[in-house]
Amino acid sequence: MSNYHIKHLEEYWQVYRKSVRNPENFWEEIAEEHFLWRKKWDKVLSWDFKKPEVKWFEGAQLNITENCIDRHLATRGDKTAILFEPNDPDEGAQHITYNQLHKRVSTMANVLKEQGVAKGDRVCIYLPMIPELAIAVLACARIGAVHSVVFAGFSATALATRINDCDCKIIICSDGSYRGTKTIDLKSIVDEALDQCPGISTSLVVKRTGGTVSMKAGRDKWLAPLLETANSACKATIMDAEDPLFILYTSGSTGKPKGMVHTTAGYMVYSAYSFKNVFQYREEDVYWCTADIGWITGHSYIVYGPLCNGATTLMFEGVPSYPDFSRFWEIVEKHKVTQFYTAPTAIRALAKENLDYVEKHDLSSLKVLGTVGEPINEEAWHWYNDHVGKKNSPIVDTWWQTETGGIMISPIPYSTPTIPTFATLPLPGIQPTLMDENAQEIKGNQVEGRLCIKFPWPSIARTIYGNHDRYRDTYFSAYQDMYFTGDGARRDAVGYYRITGRVDDVIIVSGHNLGTAPIEDAINEHPAVAESAIVGFPHDIKGNALYGYITLKQTGEARNQDNLRKEINQLITDRIGPIAKLDKIQFTVGLPKTRSGKIMRRILRKIASKDTSNLGDTSTLLNPEVVQEIIDQALI
Ligand code: WTA
Repeated sequence: MSNYHIKHLEEYWQVYRKSVRNPENFWEEIAEEHFLWRKKWDKVLSWDFKKPEVKWFEGAQLNITENCIDRHLATRGDKTAILFEPNDPDEGAQHITYNQLHKRVSTMANVLKEQGVAKGDRVCIYLPMIPELAIAVLACARIGAVHSVVFAGFSATALATRINDCDCKIIICSDGSYRGTKTIDLKSIVDEALDQCPGISTSLVVKRTGGTVSMKAGRDKWLAPLLETANSACKATIMDAEDPLFILYTSGSTGKPKGMVHTTAGYMVYSAYSFKNVFQYREEDVYWCTADIGWITGHSYIVYGPLCNGATTLMFEGVPSYPDFSRFWEIVEKHKVTQFYTAPTAIRALAKENLDYVEKHDLSSLKVLGTVGEPINEEAWHWYNDHVGKKNSPIVDTWWQTETGGIMISPIPYSTPTIPTFATLPLPGIQPTLMDENAQEIKGNQVEGRLCIKFPWPSIARTIYGNHDRYRDTYFSAYQDMYFTGDGARRDAVGYYRITGRVDDVIIVSGHNLGTAPIEDAINEHPAVAESAIVGFPHDIKGNALYGYITLKQTGEARNQDNLRKEINQLITDRIGPIAKLDKIQFTVGLPKTRSGKIMRRILRKIASKDTSNLGDTSTLLNPEVVQEIIDQALI
C-alpha cells in the first residue's frame, strides 16, 4: 500500500481510515518520504479551532522552490516544466525545462532582491497568463517574499484595494495582455491603481504586447534589462514551516475582500499530495489546468502541486473561443494532454457550439478530466463525458475553496466510481460533516446540511491578512470546533457528497466568487441610486448571473432607464471588474424589508428565479405591498 499514490478503491479506504485514525502519523510519513527539508519538524500538528490556530510541521525548515525545482534537476533537468501556449497559435508554444526554470526563477529572484525586496515583504503580481507570472510567483517564494497575485481582469480600484490591504511595496505587471482578438492595456489600469497606492515604490513591467505605455520616472522599470544584468544563481532563502507563502484575496459576503494567508510546509505537502492523487499524474504526462494563476486553482494546480511532482504543466494565455471554439481541443491534440482540468462554465459555453469543433480533434491522449469552481449540472457533465472523454476518461468533480488551499472532496480517478454532479468522497486527511440549523451534527446518510470540516488539514488558510477576528467570525463561529465552508451539501445513500451551493451572500458567476455587498456598494455610489440588492439567478452558461433590484432617489427628474443601466454597469466595471456586471437591472419602488430593516433577499432570489409560487409569509414585512409590484415588473 502506498499512502502517497492511491491506485484503487480498496486502497483509498485503507489510506483514508489511517488518515483519520492517526492524522499526525499519516502526514508525517508523507512529508518525510516525498519532500526536501532543510530541517525536520519538532511537532507535526498543533491546533485549536477556538482561537483559531493551526500549525503543521512546526520547527521544520525548507524552501518550496527547492521542492518545485532544484530537487528535479538531477533527474528531470531537461524535462519540460512549463509548457506555454500563447494566445495566438502562430506564435508557437514555449517549452521551459526544469533547468531553464531554475535559471529564470533565480534571475528574477535576484532582480527582486536588487529592488530591495526582502523576506516577508509583500509583492503584488498583476500579470496575464504568460510564463513570467509563474516565474514571478516562484521568484518570490525563492527569497521568502509573500506573493499576492491579483487576477489581471480586476479593475484599478479592486487592484488598489488589494495592494493597500496587505501593504505591498512592489508590483510586477505588464504593458498589456492578449485575450482572443483583444489587446488590453493593463499598464494604464496599474497606473490608475497606483495613484491610490502610496506604499508602492517600484513597478516592474514585463513587455508583452509592445503597446505604448507611460513609465513614471523613479517608479516604473522595464523588467527585461534588469533580468539581463542580474545573476542567474540565487540560493533559496530558508523558511520556517509556518512562514507565510502567499496571500490570495477572495470575496466575502460582506465588506472588503479577504486576504487569505497560506503558509509554507502544510500548503506544499497538501497541494502536491492532492495533485498526485486527483490527477493520477505519471512521469510522461502532460497536465493542463485552464484556470488563471490569479485564482487559487492556478496557484495550487498550475504552479505548486504539479511542479512539486516534477510534472509538465501547461499554461494557456488565451480564451477558448479564439481563433475559434476548437482551441482547447486543438491544444489537447497538439500537446497530447493527458489530464484536463477546467470549469463547468467553460464546458457549458463549449457545449453550445457545433460538435464538429470537438470531434475533429484527436483527444485520445486524455486520461482524466476535471472540473472545479461551481456545481456541475448533469447536462454539462454528460457532454464532457461523452464528447471530450468519449466515456473513457473519468471526470473528477473537485470541491474546494481558496481557504482550503487544495482539493478536499473528489473522486480518485480509476478508483472511485463517479456519479454526475457528485464530488463523491473526501480525500485522505479530510473529515467533512454536515450540520443542521440547530448546530447539531447530522449523522447517517441521505441527509442534507451545511458543510463543515471537523479536523485541520495541512493546507488550511491560517488567517485573513490583518484581520484574525474576521477569520474566526467567518469560518469558526457558526459551529463549535468546526471549519464552516459556507456551502450546503447532501450526503447520499453510500456517503457521497454533492455540493448544493453557497448558503451565504456569495454568488458564483462563471466560476468566480462574488460578494453581493461590494457590488451593492459600487451601485450605491451612483448619485441617482437610493438603495440596491443583488441576487443570483440561474444562467445556462454562467451557472448564475446577477440580478439587481435598484430603487432610485425621488429627485423628481425622469432619467432614461437604459442609460442608467449602462452607467451602473460601468460603475461596477470600474470598482470591481467586468465579471461583476449585472445581467438584469430592475428599478423598483422599494425593496422588501423585515421590521428590523433587513432586506429579504430570499424573496428577491425567488422572483429572479421565476419561482414565485411559494414566497412564504410576506405579511410580517415592513412593506409587503412592494412584493407584488416587484413581481409584476420582473424582467423574466
Ligand atoms: C464552489 C475554487 C460545487 C463552492 C477552488 C466553494 C464548488 C467555492 C466546487 C470556492 C465543486 C468549488 N462543486 N461547488 N466541485 N468547487 N465550488 O474560493 O461554493 O474560488 O465554496 O475556490 O466554489 O470558490 P474559490
